Amino acid sequence: MPALDKVLNDIADTMAKETRRGKVADYIPQLAKVDPARFGIAVVTNDGETFTAGDADEPFSIQSISKVFTLTMALGLVGDSLWKRVGREPSGNPFNSIVQLEREQGVPRNPFINAGALVVTDVVLSQHQPREALGQILHFLRFLAGDESIVVDRAVARSETETGFRNIALANYMKAFGNLEHDPDKTLGVYFHQCAVAMSCRQLAMAGRFLAADGRNPETGGRVVSSQRARRINALMLTCGHYDGSGDFAFHVGIPGKSGVGGGILAVVPGKASIAVWSPGLNQVGNSQLGAIALERLARTMGWSVF
Ligand code: DON
Repeated sequence: MPALDKVLNDIADTMAKETRRGKVADYIPQLAKVDPARFGIAVVTNDGETFTAGDADEPFSIQSISKVFTLTMALGLVGDSLWKRVGREPSGNPFNSIVQLEREQGVPRNPFINAGALVVTDVVLSQHQPREALGQILHFLRFLAGDESIVVDRAVARSETETGFRNIALANYMKAFGNLEHDPDKTLGVYFHQCAVAMSCRQLAMAGRFLAADGRNPETGGRVVSSQRARRINALMLTCGHYDGSGDFAFHVGIPGKSGVGGGILAVVPGKASIAVWSPGLNQVGNSQLGAIALERLARTMGWSVF
């Protein structure tokens, strides 16, 4: 097998020279300030080794990648009854689209589009106050990553709170269909803050380990979720994790992945490794442009496609 440190350094060198880097998200004004030249990648293997290249220790806004972790928490709270409130099919529409919600009675297609993630956050909110729910999300991320330093970027949270009119519309629309339990403002408050969590590639790859290791922390053997649940979360990441770009990501990369508009992607090689990559420029459908290209190279070189 090729040496991972060399593979990652080669990828980071190639990406540094790339001029077509996509476009940094600007609908959340604070994200528009991020330097598009940044690139980081981290791989944590199931046998406990970590390999990094580029800006792998630079925290970035995880945005929609947070949806993987809130989904895991919501399934822990309500189990399969979650699927009465959110579907498991790719939407074929942009991540922030509202069009299907009217036809489908306020039940979002999957837990990764914004509407579905808002339902998931509504479940995580449960009987808590928003501050407590956010505390639980942070606690879970710190536990998974084995790193207490993970925090919310308050400026990003404020920026999205001030401009998140689409999400405000989605939450209120689902409330009208009876698919949101809480006051939409409370659910939105938690959602905007979970999206604004800042993590580095190294921290994110560590947090994703349980998905690569059949639901266990590969270091301690401690169970995070059942192996069936880990498989199912991976299946949803593969089919829905890149929204209307999911087919293309599966075609080119061939492993489960979840993107965020901060330019991060968490990718899972079941049985082998957890990967995080970050390049802030996005493609047409809002996924990291160089992130996907880097993962395609990595998966090809290592023979990591699941197909
Ligand atoms: O709700 C939003 O629009 C953002 N907080 C998250 C969207 C996102 O990351 C989509 N991913 N590519």
